[in-house]
Amino acid sequence: MCGIVGYVGDKEAAPILVAGLCNLQYRGYDSAGVALCSADGVRTLKCVGSPENLIPKLASCAVCSALCGVGTTRWATHGKPDVVNAHPHSCGRFHVVHNGIIENEKALKEEYFPNTEFLSQTDTEVIARLLQKFCENNTSICEAIQRLVGVLRGSYALGIVDGERPDVLYAVKNKSPLLIGCGEGFNMLGSDTVAMISHTDKFYEICDREYAVITADDFKIYSSNGKEVRREAFVVACDISDCTKGDYAHFMLKEIEEQPRVIRQILSCYCDETGKVNIDNEIIGKLTHSDRIYIIASGTSYNAGLVGKYYFEKICSKPVDVCMAGEFAYNMPPISQSPVFIFVSQSGETADCISVLSKIKELGFASVAITNCEVSTIFREADHTLLIHAGREIAVASTKSYTAQVAVFALLASALNEKYSKLIAKDLSLAADAMEKACSRKEEYREVAHEYLLNQQSCFYIGRGIDYYACLEAALKLKEIAYIHTGGYAASELKHGSIALIEQGTPVFALSTQKITSLHMLSNIEEVKARGGKVLCISSCQSDDEDCLSIECAAELLSPLVSVIPAQYFAYYAALERGCDIDRPRNLAKAVTVE
Ligand code: F6R
Repeated sequence: MCGIVGYVGDKEAAPILVAGLCNLQYRGYDSAGVALCSADGVRTLKCVGSPENLIPKLASCAVCSALCGVGTTRWATHGKPDVVNAHPHSCGRFHVVHNGIIENEKALKEEYFPNTEFLSQTDTEVIARLLQKFCENNTSICEAIQRLVGVLRGSYALGIVDGERPDVLYAVKNKSPLLIGCGEGFNMLGSDTVAMISHTDKFYEICDREYAVITADDFKIYSSNGKEVRREAFVVACDISDCTKGDYAHFMLKEIEEQPRVIRQILSCYCDETGKVNIDNEIIGKLTHSDRIYIIASGTSYNAGLVGKYYFEKICSKPVDVCMAGEFAYNMPPISQSPVFIFVSQSGETADCISVLSKIKELGFASVAITNCEVSTIFREADHTLLIHAGREIAVASTKSYTAQVAVFALLASALNEKYSKLIAKDLSLAADAMEKACSRKEEYREVAHEYLLNQQSCFYIGRGIDYYACLEAALKLKEIAYIHTGGYAASELKHGSIALIEQGTPVFALSTQKITSLHMLSNIEEVKARGGKVLCISSCQSDDEDCLSIECAAELLSPLVSVIPAQYFAYYAALERGCDIDRPRNLAKAVTVE
C-alpha cells in the first residue's frame, strides 16, 4: 500500500513531490523515495520513515533541479520497510513506484527471470525488470506497457520514469486509484487529489487497465490495446483548513473536536427546514422493499455499521447482517431474496470493500455507499451514495467519520419510519450539543487517562446492546493509538470466560446509557469490582460517585455519538502520555488499499 505522486513541468520537481508525499502519508509512512529525471539521467533517493526524511538527502543532491519525477510513501506489503525495499525500483532505463499487490509476482519471476537474483523482497522490482525486458529490440515503451498490463495480475497504480525520456511520466493502473492533475505549464500524477491539490483543482481519472503518457503541457490516456481514450475532467474544491492542524497539537484532537459541527453539517445536508429527513427516494424505495440489509465494512466503519444495524432493527424492524468486508469477500453466506448492500467506508478505497462490491454487482444486487470521499472507487461504483460530510479526516485513527457514519445511519433508518423521520433531526441536534459539552470536559478525560491507563498493558470496555457496539469502537481507539491491548465486551458475556483476565487494578470502562440494561450493568460492574477490576462507569445517569463519569445523551438511541467522545480522548491522552505518534500510529495506514 502506498501513495504515489508524479510531476512534470516548469518547476523543480523534488519539493513538489516531497510535499505531495507528505500529504499522502495517510496511505503509509514506513519508507519513501523519489526518482528525479534530468538530462543528466535519473537519480533515485530513498529513506526509511516519513517522506520528510528525504529533505536532507535532496539538499545535497545534484539533480535537485530536475523538472520531472515520481515518488512514493510506502506501507510495506512485501519485504520489511527498509531502504532496499523502498520504492522506486529500477532496472536499466526504468524507475517504478507502485501502489498495490502483484499477485503473480512469483510466476512472472519464474517465467521471465529464472536465473536472476532480485535485489529487493518487493513485488515491484519485477515490474521494472519486465519493462526493461519488454523494451528490448527497439520496442516502444507504450507497447511494453501494453504487454505489461497483459501479464500483470493483481492491483497496481504505477508511476514510471524512463531515463531516455526525462520529460515524460508514464502511469498505469488496475484496481488502485490513480489520477492526473492538470495545470498551466505542468501536469501531475497522484493516488489522491490531496497529493496535487496545492497546485491544481482539475483532475482526470485513469481507469482500470488504462495507461497514460504525461508531459508538461499535454497528456493522453490509452486503453490496454493502445487506443486513445477521451475522459472528462472533474474539479475538486478543497477546504485548506481541512488539511492543516491549525492550533491543535494533533489532527486527531482537531478531528475529535470537529464532531459536533460535523453532525450539524449532516443535518443541514439531509434534513429540510421542518426537520424532515430528505434522502434520495430511490434509496428509500430499495431499502423499504428489501427483505434484508447487508452492511459491509472494516474497522471503525464496521463498528459504525453495528450501530446502523441497531437502528434499522429498532427503528424500522429491518433484519440486518453486518459483515467484515475481508471475511465476506471469500466466505459469502446464502443471500436473501431481495437484499440491499450498504458499504460503509470513510476513504471509499478499502480494498476488501471494493472486492465485495464488485462481487455483489456481478450478482445483480443493489448497493448503497456511505462514504466521506466523493473521489473514490466505492463512491463511483456503488448504485447510490450517501456522503457523510465529515470533511477530510487526516489522523489515521478515525473519530469524526465514526460519529458521522452513525448519524447518517440514524437518518437513513428514520427515513424508513415516518414516526421517527420527524423526530430525528431534533434528537441529532441535541446530540450535537451533548457532544460539544462532552468535548469541553477534556481535562477530566486527561486525568482519567492518567489515573486508569498509565503503565497499563491491557484494558476492558464493557456494555450491553448499543453500548456494547460503542465499546468495540472505544476499544479499537485505545489499541491503535496507545498500543494498549483492549477488549470491547458484551458485559453479559464477560463471566463466560474473559473475566478470568481481570486482576487487581485492571482498568475496566463500563458504558451504561440504556435504561433497559442499567440494572444488569450495575451487577456486571460489581462482578468486575469483586475481582479487583478498577472500574469507571460512563453513564447517562447523574451520579456523584467518584468512579462514575456522567455524560448527557439526548436520546438513548443516539448515545454512541456521545459516549464515544470520552473514549476518544482517553485514547488520545493515554497515547500522548506514552509518547506515541498519535496521528500516525505504528503499522497502520489510513486507507487500506490491499486485501
Ligand atoms: C480505525 C480506522 C480503520 C478504518 C478501516 C476502514 O480508526 O480508521 O479501522 O476504519 O481501515 O477504513 P474505511 O472506512 O476507509 O473503509
